[in-house]
Amino acid sequence: MHDTVTTDLDALDLTDPRTYLTVDEDVMWRRLRTERPVHWHRPVGDGPGFWVLSRHRDVMAVYKDDTSFTSERGNVLATLLKGGDSAAGKMLAVTDGHRHAAVRTLMLRSFGPRMLASVVDGVRARTDRLLAEMVERERFDFATEVAEQIPIATICDLLGVPLGDRRYLLGLNQQALSSTTGEHTELDSLTARNDILMYFSELASHRRESPSDDVISVLASGVVDGEPLSDAEIVLNCYSLILGGDETSRLSMIGAVAAFLDHPEQWDALKSGRVTLESAVEEVLRWVTPTMHFGRRAVADVVVDGELIEAGDVVTLWNTSANRDEEVFDRPGQFDLGRTPNKHLTFGYGPHFCIGAFLGRAELHAVLDTLRRRVAGIERAGEANRLHSNFLRGYARFPVSFTAEPSPNPA
Ligand code: HEM
Repeated sequence: MHDTVTTDLDALDLTDPRTYLTVDEDVMWRRLRTERPVHWHRPVGDGPGFWVLSRHRDVMAVYKDDTSFTSERGNVLATLLKGGDSAAGKMLAVTDGHRHAAVRTLMLRSFGPRMLASVVDGVRARTDRLLAEMVERERFDFATEVAEQIPIATICDLLGVPLGDRRYLLGLNQQALSSTTGEHTELDSLTARNDILMYFSELASHRRESPSDDVISVLASGVVDGEPLSDAEIVLNCYSLILGGDETSRLSMIGAVAAFLDHPEQWDALKSGRVTLESAVEEVLRWVTPTMHFGRRAVADVVVDGELIEAGDVVTLWNTSANRDEEVFDRPGQFDLGRTPNKHLTFGYGPHFCIGAFLGRAELHAVLDTLRRRVAGIERAGEANRLHSNFLRGYARFPVSFTAEPSPNPA
């Protein structure tokens, strides 16, 4: 861990994934919150400079204000610095205003309690089955053999992807993501993403003819302002559930296991039932914060904490920092599963608040509950690999060994 970058805030490069592997993030964010809560980040390469907001209240205020800030010119550093997102105006996360609200309301129809209840039952059964198998093994990779299996299967349930197609879709998704792990080229990953969109397009045309109550049917037969949704809107919004809900949920599960290893007294608290699963889920979400930032572009001049943000400026919102803000959290650097209240911004805030928050929470709840019932002890069993990203935070590989609970409590 070298500290030169954190001693010179102007030298920081938050666009470079290596930064997060080399600086002490807690020190860096604490300094930014106290010394430069609205920090101007120098331009890097060909991109523009951008604002870095690190205080909970400022991050929350910008998330909430969709009048002065737009998502349609990108909502993460990669697209914001490029100047835009090709899915703008079509995919929920990068659409503003009336259209955003109308499509979101439509999608939420298939997130109703009846649909979710069966999806959640599936999550519980799948998690229990997987962990029952893993406790019998000497060692395994929690990242690929457990965490990677749960969210994508859940999203397929929500979308109503037929069982026979799942292996195909999972393969494509792995290929689409693997340019970040270096296993395939950028071109392979682009091709895989196109194949996923083609697949959803075909499925949508079937569902238009024989609809059910899954997300694809709702989008394929949905009407907004008297018009059906365009094909691009349908397929991009289906895909956005995978983009939004797969890696994020996965990283929170892996992050939970990592946190238990670093804080054995909290693992004891979970095992003994001294803390509720509900508060434990929220604290894991705060502690892990799998999406480090989101962002917006200003469409009007706005003053934030005394600094003038001008129309056209890129503004980044750092969830990782907001979730450690001492103005909001008592002893923010302590992992405390009993923490209440816990006003973390892990799912964002305001009009774009994560549409999958209920599911993300349900998946983590199932994982914590199953760990608590089936696992007596956790040990590291090899070197963990961190992801290289300026957006996602966590582990790509996480070898562990579990000791089985001799008489697991029933689910
Ligand atoms: C939006 C985080 C799980 C789908 C968001 C946003 C955040 C977030 C911070 C706001 C983005 C912004 O304001 O620009 C997370 C985390 C998750 C998670 C940390 C897991 C722990 C899920 C799941 C799904 C999902 C399970 C789908 C099943 C989406 C979608 C949006 C979104 C579609 C866009 C919503 C909108 O623009 O109205 N997520 N998410 N997410 N998330 Fe999640």
